[in-house]
Amino acid sequence: MAYDLADKTAIVTGAASGIGKETAARFAREGANVVVADVVGDEGQRVVDEIESDGGTATFVETDVSDPAHVEAMVQTAVETYGSVDIAHNNAGIEGRDDPLAEQTEDNWDRVIDINLKGVWLCMKYELQEMVEHGGGAIVNTSSIAGLVAAGGTPYVASKHGVLGLTKVAATQYAAENVRVNAVCPGVIDTAMVQRAAEADPDSIEGFVQMQPLGRMGTPEEIANAVVWLCSDEASFVTGTSYPVDGGYMAQ
Ligand code: NAI
Repeated sequence: MAYDLADKTAIVTGAASGIGKETAARFAREGANVVVADVVGDEGQRVVDEIESDGGTATFVETDVSDPAHVEAMVQTAVETYGSVDIAHNNAGIEGRDDPLAEQTEDNWDRVIDINLKGVWLCMKYELQEMVEHGGGAIVNTSSIAGLVAAGGTPYVASKHGVLGLTKVAATQYAAENVRVNAVCPGVIDTAMVQRAAEADPDSIEGFVQMQPLGRMGTPEEIANAVVWLCSDEASFVTGTSYPVDGGYMAQ
């Protein structure tokens, strides 16, 4: 155990797969009670089963982060089950369609913005209420290198830039309440999302990987390492940051 998160409760959204799945497992190994939230039930419950068979504590809550009633129920379940919400990794996201801006459909725009941006706002809205009531907490939102530069589709880039804006607003508004809020900006990470993109357009993913000076994809574990550190007391003076974990992509 690198960080002592015993007696803390962590919510992870998009925890049935990829980065969120890894973060949920890591929080559990550090001793936290974990709320595994995702829109897909079977895979989400499987993540809980794996955490429990590893000796950890977790609960699955079927949650669509774009639905306020779901998000409120997710936070309520955390409080009813474990007594508080101390940590949150607001990570659920979709890639959407990658058409040029003028060819984007309104449906694709709305879907990506609803999940990637409104979803992060809704999660923070309800998490912050609980954190303030219980004396503080730490939140990490998943943005992307697409939150820093135009590395992706139109609504995706807009949503991930928006996540950084929300992160800064929340960090400054809730610092006095002892809540720290940061964002991670992953580069290309080997998950189902990237596998889907590679199937649709193998050259584009290979191109991104070549643009990462470390010359490979990152792993979900490498993102979880940053998220868990940002949520731990080791990062007690870090708030409002946009933290690239990108193999050097943003350094160029
Ligand atoms: P993934 O596709 O493996 O996992 C995403 C999870 O989010 C899935 O379990 C999915 O069911 C869940 N999800 C989708 N819509 C949801 C909703 N409305 N409510 C709740 N859960 C929902 O993808 P990955 O790569 O693990 O992505 C996680 C986050 O990391 C996303 O926000 C993504 O934009 C971001 N990211 C990923 C990068 C990569 O290269 N894989 C790079 C930069 C950012």
